[in-house]
Amino acid sequence: MKSTSIQFLELLHDGFCATDLKGTVLYANPRALELIKLEDYTAITLNFFKDVVRDEERIEEIKNKIEQYSSVSDIECNLFNRNREYFPVILTANYIRDYDGTPEGYLFLFKEMSAFKEMQVRLVQAQKMESIGLLASGIAHEFNNILSGILPNAELIKMTTKEEANLARADMIHKASFRAANIVKQLLSFARIHEVEDMETLALNEAVSETLGVLDKLFGKEIRLENRIPLDLPPIDANATQLQQVIMNLAINARDALEGRGEIVFLAETVKVEPSDKSLKPGSYIVLKVKDNGHGMTPEVMEKIFDPFFTTKEPGKGTGLGLSTVYGIVKRLNGDIRVESEPGRGTQFNVFFPVSPEPVATEAKAGNQTDVASRNVMIIDDELVVREMAGDLLDFLGHTVVKAETGEEGIELFRMQPSRFDLIIIDLIMPKMNGVTTMEKIRAIDDQVKIVITSGVGHTSKKDEMLQKGADAYLQKPYSLDAFRSMFADLFPE
Ligand SMILES: Nc1ncnc2c1ncn2[C@@H]1O[C@H](COP(=O)(O)OP(=O)(O)OP(=O)(O)O)[C@@H](O)[C@H]1O
Ligand SMILES: [Mg+2]
Repeated sequence: MKSTSIQFLELLHDGFCATDLKGTVLYANPRALELIKLEDYTAITLNFFKDVVRDEERIEEIKNKIEQYSSVSDIECNLFNRNREYFPVILTANYIRDYDGTPEGYLFLFKEMSAFKEMQVRLVQAQKMESIGLLASGIAHEFNNILSGILPNAELIKMTTKEEANLARADMIHKASFRAANIVKQLLSFARIHEVEDMETLALNEAVSETLGVLDKLFGKEIRLENRIPLDLPPIDANATQLQQVIMNLAINARDALEGRGEIVFLAETVKVEPSDKSLKPGSYIVLKVKDNGHGMTPEVMEKIFDPFFTTKEPGKGTGLGLSTVYGIVKRLNGDIRVESEPGRGTQFNVFFPVSPEPVATEAKAGNQTDVASRNVMIIDDELVVREMAGDLLDFLGHTVVKAETGEEGIELFRMQPSRFDLIIIDLIMPKMNGVTTMEKIRAIDDQVKIVITSGVGHTSKKDEMLQKGADAYLQKPYSLDAFRSMFADLFPE
């Protein structure tokens, strides 16, 4: 029959050891055995100081403190198990004394802290992402306005100039600003400004094969891309573009790690996440596995890969935003991303997506690319560069343009000749009268005229909001010829 105190120690969820003055373990409760990875403490001689604490300085510190105060509590330290792997604990230690108070040994109580530490790390990561996200969105907004002045101008020069040298220069400007626009897009999506866009129920296999179809041509023959995702997996809910971004980023990173030669395999399976999981809600998930046999990563690199702007690539080769964007997207879908890697042994990214309760949607949208007739357009934007730019683009496309600098001015122009205009493009954020009020006042004069709201602080929730408020379309800055073309095609179907 065990005594009540022994029964208590056996049920205790913290490790407990009693030792003699040398540190030889005389008793260890089941939790201590589990943590130290020992089946039976009576079978071998285990010294708590030498075998479990291991750190000379720490041992001295504990012994000295106990000698001085007869106990120490809440020491944050690492202990070691029999395989010499450490685990973080909070340790409390006391003297065991005999009847006249002479110390006879030690009592150690330790609480294992891995789960807590992991939570702390996740929390810090989440906060870091949040604050950098805010900063990034500010920068992205400014850049978008600047690019609105560069990108379409370069495009226009390219289309109109006949001189070879200028054509090449315009092409360089176009390519460079296009790259910048892409970075801004990444920044925006990372900064959560592109909130979850239209969600669709998607088949992972299809998304992967579509993306790999594009990448295969880019990656070259020495790199083998293989899609081994089963066809009969349940679907997931995601935005198609964002899902593509996830797949692209993981594939491109893998390509870079292969340094010219190797293979990238895409696998997937359904898994059940249990309530014990720390970062995912319990339920069914699809795990997308992206596996490469490239150079792999050290633990130090692995710790930082989801940090915005962390890159090990040469300047100009990587911005370090790929994985932080992927992280943002996956987290917003209530998923998670985990990585396994070792230097020289390749890398595997595991991306968890919650299984969708819906079947896959099948209808496909047909794009209309045909030319449209000439229209009379008014553009209302407080920024000169944007106004001029949009004017030039519309002009190039064969439309007639009237420009207004403020909402008030636009309304006045419209009031004078309401039947003159087919379309009004209004900037959302303007210093005096904003885009929505301007739209409402124009609608009060004529509720048939087509109105497009445009903004550089783009997100689709804005788009939905604008459509709800009565706009016929929402246009994201920076403008491009293509966006204008398809906007006209949508607004004025033949
Ligand atoms: N499959 C992989 N194998 C080895 N290292 C990787 C792999 N994927 C990512 N990394 C490491 O993680 C870092 C961060 O990746 P991330 O995609 O965020 O940025 P990047 O690829 O350097 O730049 P960007 O994606 O913005 O062009 C990389 O620089 C690389 O060191
Ligand atoms: Mg990358």
